[in-house]
Amino acid sequence: MHYTDRPALHVGIIMDGNGRWAKSHGLARVAGHARGARRVSEIVRVCPDLGITHLTLYAFSTENWQRPLTEIDGLMRLFEQYICGKMAALRSHDVRVRFVGMRHRVPEGLQKLMARLESHTSGCSRLNLTIAIDYGSRDEITRAVRNLAGQAAGGGLRPEAIDEARFGGALDTAELPDPDLIIRTSGEQRVSNFLLWQGIYAEYTFPPEPWPEFTAAHLRREIEAFGHRHRRFGLVDEPEPGPQLGGASG
Ligand code: FPP
Repeated sequence: MHYTDRPALHVGIIMDGNGRWAKSHGLARVAGHARGARRVSEIVRVCPDLGITHLTLYAFSTENWQRPLTEIDGLMRLFEQYICGKMAALRSHDVRVRFVGMRHRVPEGLQKLMARLESHTSGCSRLNLTIAIDYGSRDEITRAVRNLAGQAAGGGLRPEAIDEARFGGALDTAELPDPDLIIRTSGEQRVSNFLLWQGIYAEYTFPPEPWPEFTAAHLRREIEAFGHRHRRFGLVDEPEPGPQLGGASG
């Protein structure tokens, strides 16, 4: 099947390399993030042409709170500017936006904008854009466990009824298919607490370009390479001929 013919194609991106890009251009780190925000718009625009139905962007991790305050403030302002500036365009391009992560720790003004963008685009369906802000897989999994444990302790849920589907449904990403491809820009080869539960059969690529230089053409290159990968999901291609298990003997 050609990659553009798939019913769903979910790509996750760890947008790494903004800081190094800024440093190499003699700029402050926040300037690297600002340049990165421009790339977000270009990448979002091209997704439908590449057959991408779901795009999840890792914008701010639970660990990122440990960065200098000026950088955190700069990032929060950039998220606000992106939401305000792109609200109408996202809807007119039929992009549904969701946010995953803890959310209540970001500034109140940003929380309101996030909720507004989600409801403003809730009827859209050409591209499902998920932005992970204050997100970390361990935190997401811990919150899901706490939620299910609370239901069980309250008598509303039998522990035996907790299976993979039930657990996946308690995660922030409950409405999303698992990611098929996770791209981390800037050449670093780490997963960094991104979609750990969801990404078990994702393919990973680590293109060398820092995020501020990652263009639509680079995304096309990654998607085309992904289209040539052979995914087996833990199975074998064809069963080998051999003794029939459980067959009649004698
Ligand atoms: C990682 O690069 C990048 C981030 C922590 C922030 C990503 C945010 C943006 C691209 C801003 C716009 C986003 C949206 C959704 C509007 P890094 O700073 O860790 O880079 P380094 O490893 O080179 O230091």
